[in-house]
Amino acid sequence: MDTLEKTETFVCPTYARQGKAFVSGSGMFLTDEDGQVFTDFLAGIAVCSLGHCHPEVTAAIQDQAGKLVHVSNLFYTLPQADLAQALVANSFADQVFFGNSGAEANEAAIKLARRYFQRKGDTDRYRIITMKGSFHGRTMATLTATGQDKVKQGFYPLLPGFSHVPFNDFPALEQTMDDTVCAVMLEPVQGEGGVIPADPEYLSEVRALCDRTGALLIFDEIQTGMGRCGTLFAHEIYQVTPDIMTLAKALGNGVPIGAMLATGEAATGFEPGSHGSTFGGTPLATAAGLKTLALISDPAFLARVREKGRYFKSQLQKLKKTHSRVKDVRGAGLLIGMELDAGADAVKTQCFKKGFIINAIQDKVLRFAPPLIVETADIDRLVSVLDSLL
Ligand SMILES: Cc1ncc(COP(=O)(O)O)c(C=O)c1O
Repeated sequence: MDTLEKTETFVCPTYARQGKAFVSGSGMFLTDEDGQVFTDFLAGIAVCSLGHCHPEVTAAIQDQAGKLVHVSNLFYTLPQADLAQALVANSFADQVFFGNSGAEANEAAIKLARRYFQRKGDTDRYRIITMKGSFHGRTMATLTATGQDKVKQGFYPLLPGFSHVPFNDFPALEQTMDDTVCAVMLEPVQGEGGVIPADPEYLSEVRALCDRTGALLIFDEIQTGMGRCGTLFAHEIYQVTPDIMTLAKALGNGVPIGAMLATGEAATGFEPGSHGSTFGGTPLATAAGLKTLALISDPAFLARVREKGRYFKSQLQKLKKTHSRVKDVRGAGLLIGMELDAGADAVKTQCFKKGFIINAIQDKVLRFAPPLIVETADIDRLVSVLDSLL
């Protein structure tokens, strides 16, 4: 059996995969079992932001793997403490909870928001408002939070206490808000929903509404955070600060890690025994996270991300002028969506045949989330392929 057959036989069929098995990666490039090299404009869905097998991250992983991999959260480890301190130093937050994935980070955020009010005796305040089109994960709470029906099929009954309102529609949110709402949760740029940025005014209004009503504001920055949008966290572009933020994806440049960051006030919702995760914040994962954060948070690196994002967008906008199939180009930094009238899946497949990895959402939007180390020459090569395909 080859890799494809073996996978289809022995791995649960939850993914629609493209027909290649990869064996190695370096920077912008992935190599398959036949030795064909692909240019990666997806980075493992916004995960390998420093490129595949970044030498400094690899060295940090190798060094830590030789020292200590896991001891449990019954004890202290320095890499975990160091990464928490570095995340706090680089954000609005005062404390961090570590998990292993985006869904687990969002679970922690949802649990913290509920428990924050329940500890204060406000037991009626448990509702969470999220956005239509949002994506927050595949666990029961996070798929309930997700504003897309397709992830919910077959899993009913869902958790009580979640409401969904249209994104970027402040009156709809205001109407749904009442004193039973403990939190409003949203992505500053909806990723899986089709790369849809929040309107700046909307985010400010949401913040003000939460302040007025006392609800906590949760930003899911699992896809938008860690430099993806050109600032370390996307909410910095909007100058709107949440009470709780979730991270995962690029935080370990491929090593599984999730984090929930909270203000000191919100973090009072947790106490010893209230939440936990066996693998949360292992020395191995946090050593990878610490190195990744140090490299991405460099202001010069982030300035380059903004510059390359602007260049990429401008090149795609040129395609919009010459191809009537292109309806919109949008996004922030190096999280960019190009909406077509239809047929995005076919374009993605054609790109793959020509050695470029991109992604398509709902057959309408081409999503580009390359490693943040992408060069303008890589962008030019992809844009020329897109030009010929469109
Ligand atoms: C915004 C957002 N939140 C949560 C998740 C879930 O993350 P994970 O797949 O690591 O559980 C994703 C994954 O795509 C995401 O994009």
